[in-house]
Amino acid sequence: MLKEILQTLQIETEAEALNLILTFILSGLIGYVWSHRGQVTGTEKEKEKVEDGEGLSELQDGDVSLPGSESLLKLIKDRRSIMPKDLTGEILSDETIEYLLEAGNWAPTHHKTQPWRYIVISGPNNILDYLDFIEKWYSDNRELVSEDEFQKFQDKYSSMRETLPANVSHMLVIGMKRQALTDKLLPEWEEIAATSCSVQNIHLALTALPGCGGFWSSHTWCKHARDSNQFKEYLGLESEDRVFGAFILGRIRDGAKFKSTRADWRNKVVWRTGS
Ligand SMILES: Cc1cc2nc3c(=O)[nH]c(=O)nc-3n(C[C@H](O)[C@H](O)[C@H](O)COP(=O)(O)O)c2cc1C
Repeated sequence: MLKEILQTLQIETEAEALNLILTFILSGLIGYVWSHRGQVTGTEKEKEKVEDGEGLSELQDGDVSLPGSESLLKLIKDRRSIMPKDLTGEILSDETIEYLLEAGNWAPTHHKTQPWRYIVISGPNNILDYLDFIEKWYSDNRELVSEDEFQKFQDKYSSMRETLPANVSHMLVIGMKRQALTDKLLPEWEEIAATSCSVQNIHLALTALPGCGGFWSSHTWCKHARDSNQFKEYLGLESEDRVFGAFILGRIRDGAKFKSTRADWRNKVVWRTGS
């Protein structure tokens, strides 16, 4: 059979046969590489989409060039802390939250410990579960809290229960791993600073999405529960880790306006420059 094929192809020597096989393999290889040029896997494609901000309903444009200095300063100045009373309760897409978390993940971090952790909570029932846990902690640990503090907690708790489940899209509970890498223990302030940078990244990324807003709630109203080991365990953290409240976000109600002020930076800066 092989002999007949070789005769048909007019191949008489071993060298000619080898030549033909090699040409066949090589052209197959070139064809494969050509047809797969620029192709990426499904997962990589999804990742690229999130990194490029593509496919996000809240995102306006697909321009991936860097913003100019003026646009960047405008974004920074336009970032506002927007409270739950000014949110509509609409649930933002998973892609939007992934985009925010991607932004948060690019915070600077000494020794790349990347200590920020987020627990994503969304939907009225999940937010109520979260609030229930906090309330239960206060009733189980009544003796650890003064009368005055307990009263303050109760007052604030009622308003949280009213507004958060109804108005908020997502709560990103902010955690910090005290020792994210086993071989590196940095000063705690550096890990707190890196986590804060991560939250700021999220806040700025959110500011770029028209009609969306949020704020960092340090959870002072429930600080005893927030700092407890039970709360850390509930969130999947360890006792040495920290919880810094939650970044609370959603869709801003129509017509809401926000402003803020800062004292002049010149009053906060000392120059020692020049000769
Ligand atoms: C670490 C941190 C914790 C904050 N915690 C709260 C909070 O618990 N409640 C609140 O209303 N605002 C909180 N804020 C938001 C500030 O109140 C807000 O940034 C400030 O009023 C300035 O407004 P702006 O962010 O719109 O410029 C917090 C901000 C930071 C940086």
